Amino acid sequence: MISPSSRFILERLIDPGLADTLADDVRRGLFSVPKRLPPKHLYDAEGSRLFEEICTLEEYYPTRTETALLARIANELIDTVRPATLVEMGSGSATKTRLLLDAMARLERPATYVPVDIDESVLAAAAPGLLETYPLLSVRALLADFERPLHQLPRGRGVLVAFLGGTIGNLEESDARAFLARLARAVGPGASLLLGIDRVKQVQRLQAAYDDARGVTARFNLNLLRVLNRRLGADFLLEDFRHRALYDPAAQQVEMHLVAQRSLVVRLRELDRVARFQAGESVRTEISRKFTSDTARALIDGTGWHIERLFDAPGPDFSLIWASAGPGLEDRSRADLASPTSFP
Ligand code: SAH
Ligand code: TRP
Repeated sequence: MISPSSRFILERLIDPGLADTLADDVRRGLFSVPKRLPPKHLYDAEGSRLFEEICTLEEYYPTRTETALLARIANELIDTVRPATLVEMGSGSATKTRLLLDAMARLERPATYVPVDIDESVLAAAAPGLLETYPLLSVRALLADFERPLHQLPRGRGVLVAFLGGTIGNLEESDARAFLARLARAVGPGASLLLGIDRVKQVQRLQAAYDDARGVTARFNLNLLRVLNRRLGADFLLEDFRHRALYDPAAQQVEMHLVAQRSLVVRLRELDRVARFQAGESVRTEISRKFTSDTARALIDGTGWHIERLFDAPGPDFSLIWASAGPGLEDRSRADLASPTSFP
């Protein structure tokens, strides 16, 4: 038997500290009105641990709903696509991924799993268990920012890309479309996509999912201030801010904020600047967009992906979209035109 260590490699496509984009994002986001920061900085080791806890909360329906849906469709999907390689964007703990890997193991062929995540701690933690469960599997983990160019992905028929958890909803429409178009180009014609999207539903259920009774989501959001303290030498006090999550029915998105409880001056030593907050002023740290079947189709249309099937969990509370990267050059140039500013 081949030893697990020879079946695992981790490639770092970004510098481990991420200090470069964090500093730029903070310079741009904390000194403008309204203040906002991109969500990727929520996921340091502690943020990833707290996110795992969120996934077990009664109020956070997406994880268990998507898990049940995956269990239902995995065999049929895998038997049709017959992937040799499973790529996963924002793989996290890769718990749900096991449903796809179980279905792939039934093919009794060597396979490769390529988890892509911005947090090295989750990549390192997930691999040993997977190598132990799946003797025919190799893991090539990529420490990367999926919002930046994706050059190192495997290509063509035989590649299935999973993007689960509704994480696509954390990107604005134009960024999400540009991401999908870049992904289609990176993996090339014949590759398949399995995309998890969260659905529009009752306001109370949506808000509770992002503002749970035990305050785990609040701790997850507030951890961003710890990241700024550690990486940029800031002096945020967590008790000066409160977590707020509100669903905007017109925009069909939940918005997460950190709200200053009093007027504040915060020093950011590494940037040699001070950020000012008025009492009640907030930093938007995350959006989580919710879709109808029409807005989901509109998201994907013209990005180079052709929808094969839409699978709905009861409600529908959550959906999985199975799509293929087509050769249609036309589609891809249209997608590029739709979001000319997002990517070089
Ligand atoms: N797929 C898992 C985790 C979802 S949480 C699930 O469905 O439960 C989102 C994951 O994406 C986290 O692990 C986070 O570290 C990662 N992530 C967020 N932004 C990212 C980015 N820009 N590039 C790469 N990974 C990112
Ligand atoms: N991808 C997750 C989602 O949109 C991320 C998430 C869950 C999240 N809960 C959160 C992000 C709370 C910020 C705050 O559902």
